[in-house]
Amino acid sequence: VVPKTVSLKDDDEEEDVGPDKVKLTVFFGTQTGTAEGFAKDDYAADDDQYEEKLKKETLAFFMVATYGDGEPTDNAARFYKWFTEGKEREPWLQQLTYGVFGLGNRQYEHFNKIGKIIDEQLSEQGAKRIVQIGLGDDDQCIEDDFTACENVVDCRREQLWPELDLILRGDDDAESAHTPYTAAIPEYRVVTHDPAMISYEDNHAVVANGDASYDIHHPCRVNVAVQRELHTAESDRSCIHLEFDLSGTVVIVPFYAKRNPSTSLKFMVQPIETLIIESICPRYETGDHVGVFAENCDETVEEAAKLLGQPLDLLFSIHSDKEDGTSLGGSLPPPFPGPCTLRSALARYADLLNPPRKAALIALAAHASETSEAEKLKFLASPQGKDEYSHWVVGSQRSLLEVMAEFPSAKPPLGVFFAAVAPRLQPRYYSISSSPRFAPSRVHVTCALVYGASPTGRIHKGVCSTWMKNAVPLERHNACSWAPIFIRPSNFKLPADPSIPIIMVGPGTGLAPFRGFLQERLALKREGAQLGPAILFFGCRNRRMDFIYENELNDFVDQGVISELIVAFSREGPQKDYVQYKMTEKAAQVWSLISQEGYLYVCGDAKGMARDVHRTLHTIVQTQV
Ligand code: 2AM
Repeated sequence: VVPKTVSLKDDDEEEDVGPDKVKLTVFFGTQTGTAEGFAKDDYAADDDQYEEKLKKETLAFFMVATYGDGEPTDNAARFYKWFTEGKEREPWLQQLTYGVFGLGNRQYEHFNKIGKIIDEQLSEQGAKRIVQIGLGDDDQCIEDDFTACENVVDCRREQLWPELDLILRGDDDAESAHTPYTAAIPEYRVVTHDPAMISYEDNHAVVANGDASYDIHHPCRVNVAVQRELHTAESDRSCIHLEFDLSGTVVIVPFYAKRNPSTSLKFMVQPIETLIIESICPRYETGDHVGVFAENCDETVEEAAKLLGQPLDLLFSIHSDKEDGTSLGGSLPPPFPGPCTLRSALARYADLLNPPRKAALIALAAHASETSEAEKLKFLASPQGKDEYSHWVVGSQRSLLEVMAEFPSAKPPLGVFFAAVAPRLQPRYYSISSSPRFAPSRVHVTCALVYGASPTGRIHKGVCSTWMKNAVPLERHNACSWAPIFIRPSNFKLPADPSIPIIMVGPGTGLAPFRGFLQERLALKREGAQLGPAILFFGCRNRRMDFIYENELNDFVDQGVISELIVAFSREGPQKDYVQYKMTEKAAQVWSLISQEGYLYVCGDAKGMARDVHRTLHTIVQTQV
């Protein structure tokens, strides 16, 4: 909801702010920035440009996620470093009025650290805080942070908009301060194409930035080389081992990016001849993460097209400018490259299975032909409908498609659907379970299938794990599955000195990065390095069902890469056995390695296991010191 006097700035282009307008700038630091279309060059400017940028602002909001071990998100990292370096900035920051919304997760030790620090430092340096910092708690997945934390913004709204009113309208306009704000529903311009008349490439989910590095905005297309099930037939669950082949990576580089790599990239609809095909192998380090752009499964896509009342083979493109090239206005996320079929667009670009946001309900309401449906949708999105929204939509994990099925008269046009109803489908992140020293042209992923009944009885199938489960590897078929991927560097690294002892605690798929560590140690050993002791605590339900990579782990022991492999089977005997119980049994040894300045790593379920392991460590330290 944006009062009409405010212009929401969403990219580098300076908007014309007339004398009767006040500009509000929103800085986003989220991993999901692409979806919202905000996290672009603002945070990617050269260091000396930050000051210039901030100096120009008088009213700004910072939406910043804290991720991992109290770190800023990729797109905010350089800004954060620059900002916290402690330069004296008081004089010019005094003209800035600001608000901070942090996005974080209470399960982690450094809950909302980045938001809190930016908020404190802005205030200390003289900027005026318009509203208390909002501390978003995304208890699901930091990659879904913005959607999940939207209710934080909601609860701040009551405080925020009256404050903004005063600034934007001035005290003399008190009466109008009580008029409700009307949200403009963003909409793309849609062009439909005749497949017989144009040549189009339906594989263009990949855009490189022209300098051989890949990131969320410039993923590279890689084939699935290997895919296999890690659980045995006795297990009622599934865990997939997948290998992406990095060699012979095909990248599509827009020609203008090639000519001038510093140009900020905007993929435009353009004939395929203007694209240059390059082959550049992406690089990673042991312990890094891979971001994977998966596709929605056919069943989901087909249901979505039915609900929209559109044919799957419709060939169309979306545009955020008018036919004459002028801007449509608003804060539209960048359009996806086109033209493409509705099938591809729904598979690749639409988040169809998360609960819809309130803005989506408002957009659906605007296109519901049944008045009763429109009213109900509006109610759900209104402050009065807050409880029903949190219960009926969020609490029961109703997917966007389920909500649309409940309001069948709401059939938004595609331009509205992709701009305002379905958020952009986000990449999913996995700890890479290989080491480039061991598997130089492969990225391995170890992925548990997300599959289960939601509170409404719908069978929820995780987008990416389902895609991996169904992926066809090159070793089985030439027409294999592929995906756009990119590497996200991490701090989860082995000690630089391989003789330093390590303790790894990784039950279930928490084993993934440690498999990479072990491959790395094996390669180092083969090169002649002296390895320090390494203990691995692994946990699973039952040796016969889900002891993933059992043979490999035993080989690592035989080759001296693991000094001790300790496995807790939780469902073999009458009593649960967990990794932390095994750690207690080995307390003296654990403490001995820690006191030799050994590193201890924990990977896996942050809510249950990691907390319990943390507590166990406290006890070990207390009893052993
Ligand atoms: P469970 O499902 O039988 O309870 C990998 O998921 C392994 O981690 C499983 O054996 C699982 O056991 C176990 N696990 C579940 N909760 C745990 C906790 N709080 N601490 C340690 N291990 C746990």
